[in-house]
Amino acid sequence: MGNLRIGIAGLNRGRHFYEDFTKVDGADVIAVMDPNQEVLQAFCSKYKAVKALTDYQDLLDSDIDAVVIASPIQLHVEQAVAALERNIHVLSEVTAATKLYDCMILLEAARKSKAQYMMAENYCYIRENIAVRNMVKAGLFGELYYAEGEYLHNVVDLYSTAAGEPTWRLEEIASKRGAIYGTHSLGPIINWFDSRVISVNCLGSGSHTVPAYKNDDSTIMLCRTESGGLINIRLDTISNRPHNMGYYTLQGTKGCYEAPRVPGGEHRVWLKDYAASSEEWLPLANFYKAFLPKELIDFPEAAKTSHHWGADYFMVKDFVRCIREGRPVPIDIYRSLEFTLPGIMSQASIAHGGVPVTVPDVHKW
Ligand SMILES: NC(=O)c1ccc[n+]([C@@H]2O[C@H](COP(=O)([O-])OP(=O)(O)OC[C@H]3O[C@@H](n4cnc5c(N)ncnc54)[C@H](O)[C@@H]3O)[C@@H](O)[C@H]2O)c1
Repeated sequence: MGNLRIGIAGLNRGRHFYEDFTKVDGADVIAVMDPNQEVLQAFCSKYKAVKALTDYQDLLDSDIDAVVIASPIQLHVEQAVAALERNIHVLSEVTAATKLYDCMILLEAARKSKAQYMMAENYCYIRENIAVRNMVKAGLFGELYYAEGEYLHNVVDLYSTAAGEPTWRLEEIASKRGAIYGTHSLGPIINWFDSRVISVNCLGSGSHTVPAYKNDDSTIMLCRTESGGLINIRLDTISNRPHNMGYYTLQGTKGCYEAPRVPGGEHRVWLKDYAASSEEWLPLANFYKAFLPKELIDFPEAAKTSHHWGADYFMVKDFVRCIREGRPVPIDIYRSLEFTLPGIMSQASIAHGGVPVTVPDVHKW
């Protein structure tokens, strides 16, 4: 197969994708689209000329093999379905969908399509998360039974425009209760457990910082996995505090992992089979050589200049490689929905005082 011909929809987040696709082998971005002329012009003045469009259908008509959907969240399903119906591969930003019914529509379109669907959950490509995953697979943590993930990212500035107009984030996130944007925390943990979430309990702190928002300042979603594990997700996009978008901890019968509570700190593990004592924490980096592919150890310049600690670069590279080699993408339609559905179902739980709500099994749809 020749180079993948890529189209990108939505050019704020899409700019980052453009940069990463130009760094990897085997792909050419041939067309971009954004309905906002100012955004489009700003893009074209900065990056080398590609076909610049304002209409999504025109993008799909541009002889592309794959489309990157980096538009507002409520457009993801409609745009992904339109691409899949034309057998155009999809790399969709998070979350895959915002409604239960839309998950079913998306799954049906993906099943009927000859093209592949992947949700761009870049946090699964963070180096530390991949190292932990490989160490889990090798049995270093024993049997997993507990994990936490936190996404603490004050985006109050993004809930309205400079002119005070509401943005899609205000409509889809701040105006609803639940762990709506939880896939950055949950995705890597689901990969570690290699199990799906079967039920969620969701509670919130209430709205204190910006009382007009319906979304709680902090939302807690407790997830029960099919394997019997418990996952605690905290989502906070409102509180006044420094960001920490990538906190995780993991506990198994033979060891545990702790990401730094304050960014910049060291990622550490305690592992029964490796520690000299019950108190000896080891740097996670000690295990990179044995548990990471060379590329993630070397960490090329292309990754260093990529967003989200290099994860975006590795994700784009993996997507291109899988599609070109005709291999299944790692975050396929089922995994994408398994990452997304707990957050959707959490809205029903929090609306009823935190009662357990069943998360449907997408494989049975
Ligand atoms: N994975 C990550 O780390 C990460 C980070 C940031 C944003 N995101 C996701 O990326 C998406 C976009 O977020 P953002 O921060 O760029 O939002 P944004 O509001 O800053 O920008 C959205 C862009 O989409 C454009 N747009 C509007 N309607 C469109 C349409 N019909 N088709 C194509 N483009 C359209 C807008 O003009 C705007 O330029 C969201 O789904 C968000 O969840 C993911």
